[in-house]
Amino acid sequence: MQDYSVIKEKAFEEIEKATSSAQLVDLRVKYLGKTGEISLLMKNMKDIAPEERASFGKVVNELKTEVESKIQEKDTLLKEIEFKNKIKAESLDITLPGKKQETGNLHPLNIVKNQIIDAFTGMGFEVFEGPEIELDYYCFEALNIPKDHPARDMQDTFYVKDDIVLRPHTSPGQIRTMENKKPPIKILSPGRVYRADDDASHSPMFHQIEGLVVDKNVSLCDLKGLLNKFFKTIFDETTEIRLRPSYFPFTEPSVEVDVTCSKCHGKGCSLCKGTGWIEILGAGIVNKKVLENCGIDSNEYSALAFGLGIERITMIKYGITDIRTLFANNVKFLKQFERR
Ligand code: DAH
Repeated sequence: MQDYSVIKEKAFEEIEKATSSAQLVDLRVKYLGKTGEISLLMKNMKDIAPEERASFGKVVNELKTEVESKIQEKDTLLKEIEFKNKIKAESLDITLPGKKQETGNLHPLNIVKNQIIDAFTGMGFEVFEGPEIELDYYCFEALNIPKDHPARDMQDTFYVKDDIVLRPHTSPGQIRTMENKKPPIKILSPGRVYRADDDASHSPMFHQIEGLVVDKNVSLCDLKGLLNKFFKTIFDETTEIRLRPSYFPFTEPSVEVDVTCSKCHGKGCSLCKGTGWIEILGAGIVNKKVLENCGIDSNEYSALAFGLGIERITMIKYGITDIRTLFANNVKFLKQFERR
């Protein structure tokens, strides 16, 4: 009987002190398990006088029930606390401001490049990209600019080696295409070009797109019609173009193409220096010598070519006055071109 009350007191105290339901599992084993303290009491039954066995058994069973219900009671309480803590730990404060997913956007030069390519692929052009580090032969010689020819001064070339340069224009793309493809040819060759030149309207690295059409009876009329359609697409429907005589060794005749000023629509403003026209690209009918250099019979075929600067068109389109803005990587500037 003494054991009984000592065990009860100890069990109740330990159950009271338990701080987790896991501890209660251990206590249940300790007191009510097969070899638990209360179960062991039952095993003492044989030592008890027969007349006392019934009342002893009753008391031990009561003890068992009491400890069991005490554990149950405490377990319910602890489980409730544990549940509340779990909820608290996992809860979301839905009033907190969200974390904004920053998304990038295309660089304005890529936006305009894609628009230009779209306009021309819509007219049946294919895209061909040539190497940026290029042989002198493709940049000059094959384009009818021999060594020591004064026309080489038009491009302040970066030389890598005597016969290798950072291409100063995308025109070598014409040669590489004509060497590998039989007419009819209709290609665009976009890419980076390099010149030792640096001011508000020139950057040592910039982008051009070369255009080339080789077929039977290609004429200056085709060139004008093609560019007229293109500039109406890239600027707006009211845009007009005009051709002025010019000189490039790889074209004969050569022209400089102007577009009506996109800001004043030809009236005259600061952008077009009061003339209503803006010089936009160089073009012409490909010099017969260039066709022959590529093994194309210049009596059977003729070709038109043009080379435009992506920076120039981008600056006109968006009213950018300093080319360096395009390469400064100022995120505030670049974000303005985000598609909304
Ligand atoms: N390659 C010339 C330049 O960079 C631009 C050019 C002019 C390209 C006339 C052409 C062309 O294809 O026919 O200044």
